[in-house]
Amino acid sequence: MLLDRYGRASASLRLSLTDRCNLRCAYCMPAEGLEWLPREDTLTDDEVVRVVRVAVELGMRDVRLTGGEPLLRRNLVGLVARLAALPDAPRLSITTNGLSLARLAAPLAEAGLERVNVSLDTLIREWYAVITRRDRFDDVLAGLEAARAAGLSPVKLNAVLLRGVNDDEAVSLVRWAASEGYEMRFIEQMPLDPQHGWDRTQMVTGAEILAALAAELELLPLPGRGSAPAERFEVLDGGRSLGTVGVIASVTMPFCADCDRVRVTADGQLRNCLFARSETDLRSALRSGASDAELAALFGVAVEAKLPGHGIDSPGFLQPPRPMSAIGG
Ligand SMILES: C[S@@+](CC[C@H](N)C(=O)[O-])C[C@H]1O[C@@H](n2cnc3c(N)ncnc32)[C@H](O)[C@@H]1O
Ligand code: SF4
Repeated sequence: MLLDRYGRASASLRLSLTDRCNLRCAYCMPAEGLEWLPREDTLTDDEVVRVVRVAVELGMRDVRLTGGEPLLRRNLVGLVARLAALPDAPRLSITTNGLSLARLAAPLAEAGLERVNVSLDTLIREWYAVITRRDRFDDVLAGLEAARAAGLSPVKLNAVLLRGVNDDEAVSLVRWAASEGYEMRFIEQMPLDPQHGWDRTQMVTGAEILAALAAELELLPLPGRGSAPAERFEVLDGGRSLGTVGVIASVTMPFCADCDRVRVTADGQLRNCLFARSETDLRSALRSGASDAELAALFGVAVEAKLPGHGIDSPGFLQPPRPMSAIGG
């Protein structure tokens, strides 16, 4: 197992398959999109499989595919099947906007995908179109149903609440998710937008979200968070269980001390943190004949340099040059 200087084990790999996306969520991308990575810089399927094999050999047990929008990756089903066929195959999950899940959930589950997190910030169709700048609400709902029907489990919903937009929807999202058998999670907005428009005073905090939930529902803290980013609660509504809710308060209640993640961007750069300002170049190594041992050593270099915390609160904090969608959220 790969340990960093603070004794944290690297057990979980977040692998971005593309920086491109078919939505333009206001907190993630400008309306016109971003300058995408050149296609030739994106890791090929063979390179992705090799990176995951080395990570698994280093003890990583969870691999989450993300982006940009990972369902846009060509031949995603074939790639998932190859990852699932690796010796000591890791648990495979995906974080997606869900737009193409109606078509892909069943073949992905068949190929070996276990779990899915789908982003859904609002239950109000008009707000969905405003936040994502695309009128695709029905596609997400259809995708969620397909994920459930395909047996992907759990199906988690991720929402970022924005002040004055959807910040009054915490309770309705939890109730709706419970009624559909999904698990709701709220994520604090982080300073990772390309527009550099993040404003701490405008961020809806984890504490505010919990207060809004607690005003109408009973929340029972669940123990055993481990390295999971979400603080989880069982939710009771008049004594009736609504399942669990998670709050990922990365800014106000950072979980850096328990972080077990390593990230690889779509263009093959190893990152030891979402907020890291430096990267380790796996792609060049992959393309210049590096051995597995040399790739493993690069993982070691990246993990060795992992800082104790993201430092958002330090006066000298600087946003990383890459936005969330190019890192892999
Ligand atoms: C970057 S997206 C990539 C995967 C996929 N496109 C999706 O939306 O699920 C992963 C998650 O990051 C969240 N996200 C994007 N920008 C964020 C930000 N600045 N702060 C917090 N979460 C953010 C999204 O809402 C989404 O749940
Ligand atoms: S949050 Fe996900 S779906 Fe929305 S623009 Fe960013 S990458 Fe695309």
